[in-house]
Amino acid sequence: MAIVRRIHAWSSFLHRVRAGNSRAVASVPPVWRSCLPLHGDAPTPQCSRAFGLSRSILRRSDDFTEGTGFTEQEDDEDEDSMEEEADELFRELQPATTLTGGPHRIFVVHPDVKWGSRKQHLTTAELMMAEAVALVNTLDKWSVVDRLILSTKTPEKRKIFGKGNFQMLTERIRRTAGITAVFVNVERLSPSSERELEDAWGVKVLDRYSLVLHIFRCNAKTKEAKLQISLAEIPLLRSRLKNEFVNMDQQGGGNRYIGGSGETQLEVQQRVLREREMKIRTALEKLSRKRQLLRTRRKHKEFPIVSVLGYTNCGKTTLIKALTGDAGLHPQDRLFATLDVTVHAGLLPSRVTVLYVDTIGFLSQLPHQLIDSFAATLEDIKHSDVLVHVRDVSHPENVNQKANVLNVLRNLRVPDALMSSMIEVHNKIDLIDNYEWTETDALAISALEGRGLEVLKLTVEERVVAATGKRLVSLKVDLSTPQLSWLYREAAVQDVSVDGDEGSAVVQVVIGNAAYGRYRKMFG
Ligand code: GTP
Repeated sequence: MAIVRRIHAWSSFLHRVRAGNSRAVASVPPVWRSCLPLHGDAPTPQCSRAFGLSRSILRRSDDFTEGTGFTEQEDDEDEDSMEEEADELFRELQPATTLTGGPHRIFVVHPDVKWGSRKQHLTTAELMMAEAVALVNTLDKWSVVDRLILSTKTPEKRKIFGKGNFQMLTERIRRTAGITAVFVNVERLSPSSERELEDAWGVKVLDRYSLVLHIFRCNAKTKEAKLQISLAEIPLLRSRLKNEFVNMDQQGGGNRYIGGSGETQLEVQQRVLREREMKIRTALEKLSRKRQLLRTRRKHKEFPIVSVLGYTNCGKTTLIKALTGDAGLHPQDRLFATLDVTVHAGLLPSRVTVLYVDTIGFLSQLPHQLIDSFAATLEDIKHSDVLVHVRDVSHPENVNQKANVLNVLRNLRVPDALMSSMIEVHNKIDLIDNYEWTETDALAISALEGRGLEVLKLTVEERVVAATGKRLVSLKVDLSTPQLSWLYREAAVQDVSVDGDEGSAVVQVVIGNAAYGRYRKMFG
């Protein structure tokens, strides 16, 4: 009870319980305690709800505070002000992706490179067009009214298309009634190309960067996602600013000085943007420092972390739901449905609890700036104990998608040991008649139908033990000694059965090799 008295507020207490804080957990009344994963079971949906464990039993950045260098009160205040700041920056920066509301009728054009170093070898123009259309359709009230694949040699140049093709495209766009924007399926248009195309077509022009950012913006929920999106929007705002001032210059007004400040309007706006960028980076750094401390602590004593990653819509959320039974998860047939990293507890065959991390989906041809903005989220992948790479093998592009995912992981500098122990999962085999897989290292599953999951769990367990040395052991402890409190502090206690008369208890605990060695040295 002493610990309960020390805790300022019930919310802060729940915070700790949620995070599996052993002392907080120990102070939960026995009748509630059966709801926690103390007994070696993943929390039931009812119990999860009781402790707010449902959708994500721990949201990473909202994790526990003890030992992180933040006091509880400071932390709560910090969280509140950061939430407000993230919201404010998010709202302020909104104009970067100008198409709000709807409905929007989009013309999609895919510049197809037929030869040279820019040619995509693992895919076809038709498949890339299909992905572009799927990206547009993922947004509410957005639809594709027409589409066109056009050859080009220079998708990265200011003039993407040759003269004849450009003329033909312009006529077709102008002929199509009610278009609100044209989506040019390239990574990133330069500000001058964007301006020229908008002038020629008389509607807003989007590239993959701005469209994906818009999807992210619509799906963002947590402060971290909002901050990362706000950061990714800065380059778009810079381009827009440049374009606006070129237009103003043409009308003779862009370079006026503002009332004795010695700065032109353009310089003032650029400074404001720089200041905002600094603000966002500072807020993100703060979050990142906190995560680092939390990770260090979690590594020290908590449950093994298994990150589930893969191309967008491959079935990550469905798989985690199948592995954990978390009813709060809602898989959707939409690209980038999951934007915020969430964590869910699941049981391995030996009854060890692991935490599955649902990560943001990958997409081909995303500019580095966009990926860099999500560095904090992607960073979690590097600090996992085991990675599970999910592939939608029913998708015609799945080989290309795999290459893309591996490429992003390489760029993130995921440690070699983690890469080589990664489990590759072939999902959605129910959609393929008589599925035969030739890649013997991969596991074939259907997350939707629950096929192949037992083998997957065994494989996860094998890799977790190899990576962490952590296993479930059963120890008899003398309750008159500090053994039990030591185990609570240094390992993850899963179950305690008190042996009435003898003053001892049998403790099921997940413990790593090093901690187990220390335990034996201290207590024999
Ligand atoms: P993002 O969050 O967008 O990256 O998606 P995700 O990888 O988390 O995919 P999600 O679990 O949301 O599933 C996407 C769609 O695929 C949903 O409609 C699922 O029902 C479907 N799906 C997932 N696994 C399977 C499977 O094994 N078989 C079939 N037929 N459909 C599946």
